Amino acid sequence: MFEETRFEKIHNVIFQDSTEASILVAQEIAALIRDKEKQNKPCVLGLATGSSPIKVYEELVRMHREEGLSFANVITFNLDEYLPMDKGNIQSYFYFMHEHLFNHIDILEEHINIPDGSVSSEDLYQYCIDYEMKIKAAGGLDFQLLGIGRTGHIGFNEPGSHYNSSTRSITLDHITRVDAAPAFLGIENVPRKAITMGIGTVLSAKRIVLLGWGGNKAEILKETIEGEITPEVPATYLQNHDNTSFIIDEAAASELTRVKTPWLVTNCVWNDDLKLKAVVWLSELTEKPFLKLTDKDYNNNGMSGLLTEEGTAYDLNIKMFNKLQHTITGWPGGKPNADDTNRPERATIPKKRVIIFSPHPDDDVISMGGTFDRLVEQGHEVHVAYQTSGNIAVSDEEALKFAEITQSLCPECEETAAIISFLKNKTDHDIDSVEVRKLKGLIRRSESLGATRYFGLDDANVHFLDLPFYETGTIKKNNISQEDIDIMCDIISTIKPHQIYAAGDLADPHGTHKVCLDALFESLKVLKTESYMDDCWVWLYRGAWHEWESYQIEMAVPMSPDQVLRKRHAIFYHQSQKDGVMFQGGDSREFWVRAEDRNRLTAKKYNDLGLSEYAAIEAFKRYHF
Ligand code: F6R
Repeated sequence: MFEETRFEKIHNVIFQDSTEASILVAQEIAALIRDKEKQNKPCVLGLATGSSPIKVYEELVRMHREEGLSFANVITFNLDEYLPMDKGNIQSYFYFMHEHLFNHIDILEEHINIPDGSVSSEDLYQYCIDYEMKIKAAGGLDFQLLGIGRTGHIGFNEPGSHYNSSTRSITLDHITRVDAAPAFLGIENVPRKAITMGIGTVLSAKRIVLLGWGGNKAEILKETIEGEITPEVPATYLQNHDNTSFIIDEAAASELTRVKTPWLVTNCVWNDDLKLKAVVWLSELTEKPFLKLTDKDYNNNGMSGLLTEEGTAYDLNIKMFNKLQHTITGWPGGKPNADDTNRPERATIPKKRVIIFSPHPDDDVISMGGTFDRLVEQGHEVHVAYQTSGNIAVSDEEALKFAEITQSLCPECEETAAIISFLKNKTDHDIDSVEVRKLKGLIRRSESLGATRYFGLDDANVHFLDLPFYETGTIKKNNISQEDIDIMCDIISTIKPHQIYAAGDLADPHGTHKVCLDALFESLKVLKTESYMDDCWVWLYRGAWHEWESYQIEMAVPMSPDQVLRKRHAIFYHQSQKDGVMFQGGDSREFWVRAEDRNRLTAKKYNDLGLSEYAAIEAFKRYHF
């Protein structure tokens, strides 16, 4: 254990699941509150906003409702607030905290402290001093909850922050503003400044717990936990605090040395998956294809134990080469009448029923357009099920265009007139009316049908599920409900598929893709015992942003240059998502460019490892349920 963590400078615990981890953190907070209550003392909590602590707050609310946990002795200090920002604004941290926690517990209003984003610039300096004094007067922070930004910020202490800093105003880093852009419907609406507790303020807490979920946090967590202390990554200052724990999930831990390359820190128990992971890593490190790796390469890179088990590099290289080679197939639905011993899919059931689940109406073609095309061409009964309407990603201008066309065709239609009037008078804070959302959803439906018809799919095989969790009209979605699961179960039990494809996107644990995946997993749990499910295999593709690592891929579907063009064409049908889309994120490439770059890169990686050279490859990993 100690050997494994030899690169790590901060205590951390890795959980498989962020919900389970959040519950444990909530239990620690609850125990502290009760303990202080017994001592008749206030419990002073430093709190964070953002996606990371949401489930902790949910659990605290549940404990209040169901287990009588009282917050009467709790005093809270929030880390930060945008500047300028009104309390009434739904983007404010004031609003966030009330929505997720304060409105649902018995905390006294006068015990809640959140930096005031509406304070005037003349009063700001004194305001920050007063905030610090108030924390001290309350007895100091007993517990500080933190998230971490991709810049390494804690609170809004961006790179450059001093370890002794106290509450102050700060200019937000560009990356932080990019990450906040979806919530503000565009980076131009994200404030440039914030008030934040300082590093010194945070470090003064008696106990600190930092939460990190999802692959997006993996790089910065590695730097924070394993790197040197530097103002360029302010979270590294936490290395100096002797009662800090990082609670992270597997995806967020994936870059830590002990997780990513365990053979460098310990004697591994080698199974075939770990062997492939290690050999891919070695091949990339040495820039040599599998079949050119030597005993010396293995011995010099912490893998002598593996060689002892396997005999020689020669045997191991061939074994791993074959393993990877067997993932490649031009027959994603299985090759009829072929020997399938070494193929990713079964040759049996030559004509398979297939459901492609697509979280938004375009993930199907972006992430697996080539495979989709092949499945149809190879005669399988393919169904596409769009899980959400995707309506919030259609811009008002796009919606207005269609509304005006409709009005020209049908001037009397009152619904259209209402839509046009709503869109023309809409302000930044307005949530789309039900009619506008309907129109936006319909736009995405028509685009999807354009793409599926292009692939030769019958309209009857295209299903729009409009899962209810998504239909809030805002970025913040509802939790998954029984209704969502029922809808998923319904389509699976009607089609009785032999193959299910779904987006296995775990990078953003609160994003729509993850909820859609959870909805699938829940429905699989329900249907698991049905006899037709014995024949059902589930394949996960990744979303628009990431690809499986080479060692994780279990089915690699190569594409010819012509097939790449067909895929591009299918993506083009999604016109509302072209050019500067609403949820662009930090990557300014259009979706079709991203998709092509990603598929080309996968092909290149396979080629670099010593396998055949293809124009592009789509990748899948099997999910066993
Ligand atoms: C929020 C805060 C920030 C966030 C960080 C991570 O009050 O201070 O440091 O904790 O930006 O944000 P999420 O959790 O949304 O990834």
